[in-house]
Amino acid sequence: MRNRKSVRTITIASGKGGVGKTNVVANLAIALRKMGKEVLILDADLGLSNVDILLHLAPRYNIQHVIRGEKRLRDVIVEGPCGVKVLPASSGVQELTHLDAFQRVRLLEEFESFDGEIDVLLIDTSAGISENVAFFCVASREIVVVTSPEPTALTDAYALIKVLFTRYQEKDFRILVNSARNPEDAKEVYRKLAVAADRFLNVSLDYLGYLPFDKSVHEAVRAQKAFLEMYPGSAASRALEEVASRFVEPGREDAKGGLQFFMGNLFAMTGEAR
Ligand SMILES: Nc1ncnc2c1ncn2[C@@H]1O[C@H](COP(=O)(O)OP(=O)(O)OP(=O)(O)O)[C@@H](O)[C@H]1O
Ligand SMILES: [Mg+2]
Repeated sequence: MRNRKSVRTITIASGKGGVGKTNVVANLAIALRKMGKEVLILDADLGLSNVDILLHLAPRYNIQHVIRGEKRLRDVIVEGPCGVKVLPASSGVQELTHLDAFQRVRLLEEFESFDGEIDVLLIDTSAGISENVAFFCVASREIVVVTSPEPTALTDAYALIKVLFTRYQEKDFRILVNSARNPEDAKEVYRKLAVAADRFLNVSLDYLGYLPFDKSVHEAVRAQKAFLEMYPGSAASRALEEVASRFVEPGREDAKGGLQFFMGNLFAMTGEAR
């Protein structure tokens, strides 16, 4: 019998765009690989600044081809730095949340064939609270909300948390403050968000950590490389490694659920296409 292991499913979301989600996903994936984890990134961002561009990959297919039965999942997934696997969804995201019964079964089978090979599924989403972002957040076990210290980013992060709580009863959020000046600044940003969430929503947040503003991030983006690879000793890389180590703390493994469990959750949330 195949060895079934549970998969950590983590959606990275933000209220405001451009706060660093894709960079967090790509670099976190590499950091977790270096810690021996098998990582799959689901690039569920409908926009342009995608994981494949950031990591200089050239995927030929996306999940649309699997949904339509034209390709197997294995043919669509591309390999990035350090053996990180990337499943491009891009324009297939809309389709993914509107499947008919036959397509759902096919996709579940495809994901099942990957079970036992993946430890962590990281989902990069579009900014804001569109319906499909909510679906990924609810279907995954963990939600990481990325915000920068800017007041507009904070307000939008709060709005995202509010919608996920009031409409979807989500109560657990981990906050990552990106582009902070220093750890104190980041903690203060988190505190503001946590106070508002506690006072007005009665939701308690969890501080995941921070990444400093670091021009090596920008340089790496321009070179289409992960900053963790291009500038391993940079302040951003060291902070990112600390965040990654928090993900492998014991006691945080999922009790159950492989990849197809996640897909099942996603389908349970979304309507069947007619
Ligand atoms: N810690 C940082 N220090 C300096 N610059 C950063 C940092 N994090 C992100 N950036 C800059 O912000 C830009 C946007 O980052 P990224 O594409 O990861 O954001 P995003 O949240 O995925 O955006 P979108 O909402 O458009 O998907 C990067 O190209 C980079 O130049
Ligand atoms: Mg992005």
